[in-house]
Amino acid sequence: MRVVSGIQPTGNLHLGNYLGAIRNWVKMQEDVTANGGDCLYFLADLHAISMPHVPADLAASTREMVAALVACGIDPDKSVLFNQAQVPAHAELQWLLTGTARMGWLNRMTQFKDKSGKNREGASIALYTYPVLQAADVLLYQATHVPVGEDQKQHLELARDIAQKFNNDFAPKNENGELQPVFTLPEPIIPPEAARIMSLRDGSAKMSKSDPSDMSRINLTDDADTIMAKIKKAKSDADVLPSDAKGLEGRPEAASLVGIYAAMAGTSVAAVLSEFGGDGFGRFKPALGELLVEKLAPINTRFIELRQDQAALDAILRKGAAKARSLGAPTLEAAYAALGLVRG
Ligand code: TRP
Repeated sequence: MRVVSGIQPTGNLHLGNYLGAIRNWVKMQEDVTANGGDCLYFLADLHAISMPHVPADLAASTREMVAALVACGIDPDKSVLFNQAQVPAHAELQWLLTGTARMGWLNRMTQFKDKSGKNREGASIALYTYPVLQAADVLLYQATHVPVGEDQKQHLELARDIAQKFNNDFAPKNENGELQPVFTLPEPIIPPEAARIMSLRDGSAKMSKSDPSDMSRINLTDDADTIMAKIKKAKSDADVLPSDAKGLEGRPEAASLVGIYAAMAGTSVAAVLSEFGGDGFGRFKPALGELLVEKLAPINTRFIELRQDQAALDAILRKGAAKARSLGAPTLEAAYAALGLVRG
């Protein structure tokens, strides 16, 4: 098993990022490496330049994200942790794949439509070809499994389409005339428990770093008092908690808070409701706040310590990138060769 996944280096990590992606990466790191497979996790800094950005902020966010990942449990000795910018093969393979990817395929990508909005003519070429770079990210390493959120499923399908067409059109044949595929077709892994973590102020909006209200999210930098205060002020309703999940229908804020509790406690919504059903938020909220403080305090302490040591963070990325460069080299060479590009 070879697990490959990327995350954009946005600053200000919050509970939604932790429960949505990072915690699952940590779990896979333990399961996969115990069975002799490997995990490659990277900061998608090359993807970050597809939207307007401030260079100094990108550099700071990249390092901050490394600190956050390590604080959350990504172990640079178990997983290959790096940033795309230090592994030129990502950009090289992307170019090779743009000969195979079709305009019609990219025109169907909903993320491009969402992010470019009404201003398609003004969108960057990088935003348009973003999914081809993402395909290169995983195909370069012969990824078998790619943990992603639901919103990235379409990009993964595109990566499979590109791999399939490239193999069909260009893979060399052995002496029996059988195709020797250049790329492995990767499977997406979409964790069911990656419950959508909603804003603490509005149960219909995802928890987001771009929400102007800091009260809408729990940041990985929040201390215990801040977490307690945010949970106590979180939007809820006047009813008591129901005794089963059906009773949460039409109560998005209540459902979100119960979902956070279940995810943090590593249990199910049903189990949380069997404990708290019949209780009001006056009892449930302090319990949720305490659980969050208990689970996040060690992460918070490590994160704040690590983010101050830029030299150590850069050393982690350098080491991961060296490993990634050597893991990706054979596939990159095979792709050049399959296309008839002479590399002396
Ligand atoms: N596009 C992904 C996101 O925004 C990040 C990403 C880039 C990625 N390259 C990837 C995820 C490769 C999985 C595999 O979430």
